[in-house]
Amino acid sequence: MRTVKVGVIGLGLMGREFGSAAARWCHLTNMNVRPEIVAVCDANEGLFGWFEDNFPTIKTATTDYKQMLADPEVEVVYCAVPHNLHEQFYTDIIKAGKHLMGEKPFGIDKPANDAIMKCIEEHPDVFVRCTSHFPFFPPMQRIGQMIEDKAFGQIIEVNSGFLHASDLNPDKPINWKRILKINGKYGCMGDLGMHPCHMPFRAGWFPKSVRAVLSNIMKQRPDKDGNIVPCETWDNATLLCDAIDGNTGEPFPLTIKTQRIAPGETDTWYFEVKGTKGCARWSAKNPRRLEILEYTGGSLQAWQQIDMGWTPAFGGITGGIFEFGFSDAIQQLWAAFLYELTEGKPKSRFAGCVTPEEVAYSHRLFTAALKSQQNTTTEMV
Ligand SMILES: NC(=O)c1ccc[n+]([C@@H]2O[C@H](COP(=O)([O-])OP(=O)(O)OC[C@H]3O[C@@H](n4cnc5c(N)ncnc54)[C@H](O)[C@@H]3O)[C@@H](O)[C@H]2O)c1
Repeated sequence: MRTVKVGVIGLGLMGREFGSAAARWCHLTNMNVRPEIVAVCDANEGLFGWFEDNFPTIKTATTDYKQMLADPEVEVVYCAVPHNLHEQFYTDIIKAGKHLMGEKPFGIDKPANDAIMKCIEEHPDVFVRCTSHFPFFPPMQRIGQMIEDKAFGQIIEVNSGFLHASDLNPDKPINWKRILKINGKYGCMGDLGMHPCHMPFRAGWFPKSVRAVLSNIMKQRPDKDGNIVPCETWDNATLLCDAIDGNTGEPFPLTIKTQRIAPGETDTWYFEVKGTKGCARWSAKNPRRLEILEYTGGSLQAWQQIDMGWTPAFGGITGGIFEFGFSDAIQQLWAAFLYELTEGKPKSRFAGCVTPEEVAYSHRLFTAALKSQQNTTTEMV
């Protein structure tokens, strides 16, 4: 078993999710590689305790990420910091020769992402991937296999989205994800957008054009002291794109929705493919339920519902009938990263993390979407 020594920068919501996934690595039974957290960094020293209490392997806890980058023992860095820091932190990590798992959106805007991409090109020996864990849910893996098997026939339509209701409450205090200069002009697209792009992009369905309708529904919010301050980021985005079906060369509509104000949705990620021979859909609202419609000329069109158990890409101790959840998906994401780092290729096409090229395409899409909204036009991506 190879051990990969990891440093974590940003010990907030996502930093701790990785910590937990690493702590229970024994859950996975067929891995030849495992992560070991040896260094942590956050501007807030108060966050060191949870890590130091739970990971005796940590030798360095610092508020200065450059100190971590100078540590020759650190091989991989997981960086989960606010968007305005991505460009500086990611390029410094890559220049230091550390492999990088970077959080989306991988740069606050397209110029920042361009700079990260240039740095990646200049350091071909550094392995870089972006997070997005939802394709690792077993029903999504099955849909990926159906795409591989060309089971859909000609693609009629694809719908992919990520919906939250977390901002429906107007009294929720503003945080950095709602502040333009920290979250960025993409608003909810930068925060949520890479997730619903992951499957379509991996399938080769890259949007050629986009018509975007973006909404800023809550234009002000209280700050942490109760003062009412402007809330300038886009809350919701609906993107109508045209993509090309690689098997037939025919165009089809692809919708990508990211919403932070979607009543009734707690954390709903959904994906739906409609084709001339088959259809499939999945939603995180009922995470084990895969729905499939198989159609052969003249036959009845009937949706089948399949309860999928714990059957992810990277096997483990959980019984196959049990439920799969968010923290499982995060662990699968990390298994995919470490597998590809050590084996040189993903375990399968849909069991791979978002590549820098895919994330760069998301920046082209979101930048075109901003222009589309501003001019009420359809924009080429
Ligand atoms: N993959 C996902 O599902 C998912 C979910 C939420 C957030 N994210 C992404 O993860 C990243 C972090 O988001 P989060 O929700 O964990 O945010 P968070 O606010 O919970 O954590 C960010 C951490 O970065 C730290 N930080 C800020 N400035 C720093 C500096 N100069 N040096 C070191 N640390 C610093 C903060 O103190 C904080 O602890 C973002 O890019 C976000 O888009 C991804």
